[in-house]
Amino acid sequence: MSNAPNQPLRMALIGGGGAGFIGKVHATAATLDRQAELVAGALSSNPDKSKAAAAAFGIAPDRAYGSYQELLDAESKLPADRRVNFVSIATPNFTHCDIACAAMEAGFHAVCDKPMTTNLDDAQRMLDTVETTGRVFALTHNYSGYPLMRQAREMIANGELGEIIAVRATYVQGWMHGMDPQAEQARGAWKSDPLKNGRAGSLGDVGTHAFHLASFVTGLHPEALLSNMQSYSRHHELDDYGHSLVRFDQGATGMITWSQMTHGRQNDLSIEVDGTKAALTWRQEEPNQMFVRALGQPTKIYERDPNSSYASPDAIAACRLPGGHPEAFFEAFANVYRNAFEDMRRVDAGESFDRSKSLYPSVADGVAGVRFMTRCLDSAAADSAWQKW
Ligand SMILES: NC(=O)c1ccc[n+]([C@@H]2O[C@H](COP(=O)([O-])OP(=O)(O)OC[C@H]3O[C@@H](n4cnc5c(N)ncnc54)[C@H](O)[C@@H]3O)[C@@H](O)[C@H]2O)c1
Repeated sequence: MSNAPNQPLRMALIGGGGAGFIGKVHATAATLDRQAELVAGALSSNPDKSKAAAAAFGIAPDRAYGSYQELLDAESKLPADRRVNFVSIATPNFTHCDIACAAMEAGFHAVCDKPMTTNLDDAQRMLDTVETTGRVFALTHNYSGYPLMRQAREMIANGELGEIIAVRATYVQGWMHGMDPQAEQARGAWKSDPLKNGRAGSLGDVGTHAFHLASFVTGLHPEALLSNMQSYSRHHELDDYGHSLVRFDQGATGMITWSQMTHGRQNDLSIEVDGTKAALTWRQEEPNQMFVRALGQPTKIYERDPNSSYASPDAIAACRLPGGHPEAFFEAFANVYRNAFEDMRRVDAGESFDRSKSLYPSVADGVAGVRFMTRCLDSAAADSAWQKW
């Protein structure tokens, strides 16, 4: 897909129409730095609603499509300097694999929301499609886009915490108490339907974010895990509360906890990493501070401040504003896009790129997330027996 240097990349959005939540975040985050413009969309599974929703996104009527298939077909026929460069997928989980593979096979880069898909066969298909098409694929585990999570990753990689002995990542919400899957129009009602959501309930919805963040920050790889999970909601049978004890490589242990049934909790993702020299803690709801503690020392508070002497290169690159000007969800989400755009521009210019140097979550991270879900479900079905990774 040709694109003049420094010109915005052209974006198509799939999902986000009507009450759709995260599609609107994609539309804002992708365009935050004016490196992309939203020009096309298939915003709902209903063709009429899809077209009707386009105006609210500023999409012209001739680029408002009734379905993603129609979008890919029509955009493929446009001249290279008009057609979209990438497709963002913000639809229910069971649709991700078909939409992403079709988009990449049609020559478009793909940005996909999590969980990447619902089962390991589809995850492998997505990995194969990325490899055969050579397209850029980014998965929006957006919490890895926070400057202080990038700071933590660099500090750990530099050995500032010593050897990592433990990581605890906890993602706790409470909104499922009010959910009624019978209310068809309710946002996220599909999350109670195993056919649309997949078999991993809150595990897939928030547990995969916590697992990804633990892996991203520590650089550790799982070797085995066990899991215990419950379904407390009156409305559905999928898990809505669970724990996974993870045996990581390098002798580290980990605990991942997820809940959408904790009264009063909104979007409480937190991570704690214990090293032999120091330990750190960070909470997504207070994202501009990170605490580092060592025995007998005063607690250090790292601020999100690109002008501080201690800010690491990746943290500085992830900031847009000076310290004291709070940045949060949109900016972190936009950092995933910003990093993916660098590789999209390289590919579109016919250059190669080194995936290992990119910070955005990849298809390999997506496969790992689906493997995490699958192994947790296997363990829970086997009375919490250990499962090899
Ligand atoms: N990264 C995050 O922080 C985050 C947060 C929330 C949701 N998500 C993920 O994003 C995805 C969407 O979740 P949501 O909460 O926005 O759901 P939602 O129910 O609020 O929105 C889904 C949207 O997809 C549209 N849609 C459904 N099928 C479609 C199709 N075939 N073609 C085009 N549009 C279609 C619906 O009309 C709706 O606009 C899920 O995979 C979810 O796990 C990620």
